[in-house]
Amino acid sequence: MSTLSFYEKRNNYSSYFDPERYLNFYYCQSTAEKEGPFCPWSNGDRELNDECARVIRFKIRGMSFCIQNALIGMPSPVRVLDLSTGPFCGNVMYTSEFNKVSEIVCSDFLEANRNYIKRIISGTHNKTTGLNWERFTEQAYGKSNFVQSFRTKCQQVAFVDMSDESGKGFAEIEESGQKFDLITSEFAFCEGTRDLTNYEDVIAKCNSLLRKGGSLILLDLLEQTFWIPDVTKPDARVPVVSVSQEWLVDSLKRNGFAIDMVLLHLNDSINHHSPPYYDAKGSILVWGTKTDGEMKVNK
Ligand SMILES: C[S@@+](CC[C@H](N)C(=O)[O-])C[C@H]1O[C@@H](n2cnc3c(N)ncnc32)[C@H](O)[C@@H]1O
Repeated sequence: MSTLSFYEKRNNYSSYFDPERYLNFYYCQSTAEKEGPFCPWSNGDRELNDECARVIRFKIRGMSFCIQNALIGMPSPVRVLDLSTGPFCGNVMYTSEFNKVSEIVCSDFLEANRNYIKRIISGTHNKTTGLNWERFTEQAYGKSNFVQSFRTKCQQVAFVDMSDESGKGFAEIEESGQKFDLITSEFAFCEGTRDLTNYEDVIAKCNSLLRKGGSLILLDLLEQTFWIPDVTKPDARVPVVSVSQEWLVDSLKRNGFAIDMVLLHLNDSINHHSPPYYDAKGSILVWGTKTDGEMKVNK
């Protein structure tokens, strides 16, 4: 089966990515009430042979671990940017729970994803037909009251286009001129960029958006070449930029970051029932601290 070109993907992204179908398949498998756990991957060992479920567990565990540790010792108030949030709110909701976090800016390329987050913030999201985030966070993090703090702290859902050739892809985020203390991003750099050069430009952009001492927590797939965003359209295999651990770590170092931590999740080749919907070798989570520029002055 052939994979689309990057431009076929970017120019028709709304026909390949549906927020609810994406969440249903990759995070919950069904939003409808059904027997068994709401998040199948939260049921521990029962799902050990489901590679997709293992990836989502790694994402929740790894991101929440790095976020809470990055916040330790970080001067208040903390401004957070999440790049390409998509419709997945779990980790931004988790971040919003920390008292020192004062503001979260979410962002995405796709209007349908930005509107999805805006509906959650305004309280107009339909949790009977769509994903119930209270229930999701209860099962994933053991706490269901993140949703309210997220609504209070996230006031901006900005447009971002990582692949924009004109240099204006981050204009809305840069408008206020204010620096961020923490940038998070999950499974998005490999999707939103055209190639490794563009990928590295986005890492450099993150550096320029952060204040000195700020953190970038970046989760991505390892050596992936394609995936299927909408499993009801299995012919729409979209391309992604393939990154290795070595390249990613070196790229952060080349762009003014000291590496605090690297967490790896490797596909389990024994139990792995090779999924037809992506070909990643695993996932990588890199947490780096910006070492150059102006220090933040505590007020
Ligand atoms: C695999 S999803 C990840 C979404 C979410 N962060 C998560 O972890 O589930 C990839 C995300 O990248 C966004 N995206 C695709 N192309 C992009 C681009 N050119 N610039 C910025 N974001 C883009 C999509 O809209 C989508 O939300």
